[in-house]
Amino acid sequence: TYVVAEPCIDVLDKACIEECPVDCLYEGGRMLYIHPDECVDCGACEPVCPVEAIFYVDDLPDQWSVYVTANVEFFEEFGSPGSAAKLGKINRDHPAVDALPRA
Ligand code: F3S
Ligand code: F3S
Repeated sequence: TYVVAEPCIDVLDKACIEECPVDCLYEGGRMLYIHPDECVDCGACEPVCPVEAIFYVDDLPDQWSVYVTANVEFFEEFGSPGSAAKLGKINRDHPAVDALPRA
């Protein structure tokens, strides 16, 4: 799977959403999260992010390893909706994201 990491927080450019063939980038309060089971690893989202927030999980820099967990745990209450458009903006974040100071 691919993972959205810290640079997305409070930026939410959303260029990535347009690229995803399976609509698996879900919008939280401060960042997007990639559904780990729905992502088909096409990689189309990664180069379009202007702040380079998206990584293939094995390429994620160590200091952002918590985002692997965040992208998994974010979906615990939703299961696999099959489409981000169905849920729209979800006004909450993973606790690790909530804990970061706001600009
Ligand atoms: Fe975030 Fe980059 Fe997408 S800033 S919303 S991951 S294009
Ligand atoms: Fe979609 Fe990016 Fe995965 S475009 S399928 S979230 S690699």
